[in-house]
Amino acid sequence: MTKRVFITGASEGIGRAFSHKLAAKGYSTTLVARNESRLQELISEFAIKYPNSTHDYLVADLAREEGITNCEERLGNEHYDLLINNAGFSTFGLYEQADIRNEINILTVNCQAVMRLCHAYLQSAKAGDGIINLSSLTYYLPTPIQPTYVASKNFIASFSESLWFQQREKGIYVQALCPGVTKTEFISRSSTLDGGKKKFLDSISQSADQVVDISLNALEKRKGPIVIPGISNILLAALINLAPRKVWVYLMGKVGQFAL
Ligand SMILES: NC(=O)c1ccc[n+]([C@@H]2O[C@H](COP(=O)([O-])OP(=O)(O)OC[C@H]3O[C@@H](n4cnc5c(N)ncnc54)[C@H](OP(=O)(O)O)[C@@H]3O)[C@@H](O)[C@H]2O)c1
Repeated sequence: MTKRVFITGASEGIGRAFSHKLAAKGYSTTLVARNESRLQELISEFAIKYPNSTHDYLVADLAREEGITNCEERLGNEHYDLLINNAGFSTFGLYEQADIRNEINILTVNCQAVMRLCHAYLQSAKAGDGIINLSSLTYYLPTPIQPTYVASKNFIASFSESLWFQQREKGIYVQALCPGVTKTEFISRSSTLDGGKKKFLDSISQSADQVVDISLNALEKRKGPIVIPGISNILLAALINLAPRKVWVYLMGKVGQFAL
């Protein structure tokens, strides 16, 4: 039987790469984001490339109650083999200068939506099903120029670890995916970094395809709960323990000040 996946933030970046890879593996996809034309493009492409599976989309703003409720209803009414909570965004800079409504939106999209979609999904999930939640390498590495974002991704990693433990006896798999810098629109959307600094970040970035391949491989092997894509990111996460956390907060704070 054809497997089904529900992917948030499917219009761009890592979510788009998940959508492509899973459609190629034969999954039927439900793609969620705000940008309807990007979702329609993907659906048309999949309809031609993968005529044996069905694909649809749901336009939803996960910063709004209506967007989250529509997703909960869909997950409550239909069974999916896999849920990928990928939608997320960040701001960069001094907290006191941030628009507080936007900071609250980070928590709504990155945390509240994930909590509620996991809860809705788990009501009818069964053995063999799975959840992938996007956390970040910032779970390990402090990044003081993104205070709300980093806290939201720490929440996701801890939350997913607990769900992984609670669900494993039922055979439901939960993964917290913790990518390092990944080449997507994420940084352009959230910051005003100049061309040179963006180029530097690009040079140390993984591609969205690399991140997704590692995540799907871990899903297949049921490895978890934390998945860090790439050896350099794994080493970086391990290095953190070699110095007191305060040192990393200071160092990464200075790097952030330089980047701004
Ligand atoms: N790129 C990195 O370096 C990196 C590193 C670690 C973790 N991550 C995490 O990976 C995930 C994907 O990031 P990305 O790099 O692929 O970013 P991206 O290229 O900016 O894509 C973000 C996706 O989230 C969707 N989205 C954003 N706000 C939304 C909202 N209010 N409602 C519904 N959908 C929304 C966007 O779609 P629409 O605009 O069409 O709504 C888009 O499809 C995020 O959770 C991010 O925190 C990224």
